[in-house]
Amino acid sequence: MVNHLAIIMDGNGRWAEERGLTRSDGHKAGARQIGVAARAAIKAGIKYLTLYAFSTENWKRPKDEVAVLMGLISEFAKSELPNMMRDGVRLRTIGRTADLPLAARTALEFAIKQTEKNDTLTINIALSYGGRAEIVDAVNKIIAEKRTAPIDEKEFVNYLYAPDIPDPDLLIRTSGELRLSNFLLWELSYSELYVTNTYWPDFDENTLAEALASFGSRKRRFGGLNKK
Ligand code: FPP
Repeated sequence: MVNHLAIIMDGNGRWAEERGLTRSDGHKAGARQIGVAARAAIKAGIKYLTLYAFSTENWKRPKDEVAVLMGLISEFAKSELPNMMRDGVRLRTIGRTADLPLAARTALEFAIKQTEKNDTLTINIALSYGGRAEIVDAVNKIIAEKRTAPIDEKEFVNYLYAPDIPDPDLLIRTSGELRLSNFLLWELSYSELYVTNTYWPDFDENTLAEALASFGSRKRRFGGLNKK
């Protein structure tokens, strides 16, 4: 059973190029697909959906493209709010969100507050997120506490961005690339991986069903010899 699904939403650019559209059109189509994925996740009984929307490295993309993505993030937080309330979706974010433009932060904070009591599905959007940055931020929080006692893994988790969210059971990466791209480096340690050639704007209930069927056929051992 997949309780927490993480997705690297890749391929917006290639989807657009193949259709003679602009990269911005690709990102727009990608943003629209988040609602489709969320509804499919709810139907499948998934409780947490973590989406890689903007990495710490994505700031290096051309200014115009960054602006389009930031605009889409604000728009998503505003226009999807009624749907989130209807469907019982709670919105959260992880990452260095203080780096985002004020408009995006304000729209996100409003939606996060409005949806905080919803509990059908939590959509956790990774924004200005890097797996290494998350670990470094955790270490710096520990240093700021002037802690001198040794720390173990269980306690360390409390310094990560979302300590209360269980680790992902499954990671889906769209559009064929076989890498983690600095996503959830700590949390994905024992997650199952599924890569589909489908571009993110084409991701739908069927793509999710295929990934969940693949997950269902695997034996998770968490490093042990548990045959179940
Ligand atoms: C990868 O496509 C996708 C991203 C840069 C992140 C995903 C962004 C969205 C789905 C849109 C906005 C997000 C929200 C939360 C509203 P790419 O440009 O790397 O594609 P390519 O590899 O084909 O060029």
